[in-house]
Amino acid sequence: MSLPFTPEPCDGRADKIVCRCLNVSEAQVIQMIARLEVRTVRDLSQHTGAGEGCTCCHAKLAEYLEKFSCEAAALG
Ligand code: FES
Repeated sequence: MSLPFTPEPCDGRADKIVCRCLNVSEAQVIQMIARLEVRTVRDLSQHTGAGEGCTCCHAKLAEYLEKFSCEAAALG
């Protein structure tokens, strides 16, 4: 008997939401940083919409930029 395919993460949680106002997920933010080499919160907002509401997620977006910009640059 085979198990049904489930696209959800193994821990059963949906993708983590980084910006609740615009419903932007962690995966979307990381993809933009890696693919488009986005380096500022303003650029990230333009590409994903994240941070265009109450702005309380800006500090979190900056953390993602700092962490994943370095990793993307290291991968070349
Ligand atoms: S939580 Fe991102 S703009 Fe409000």
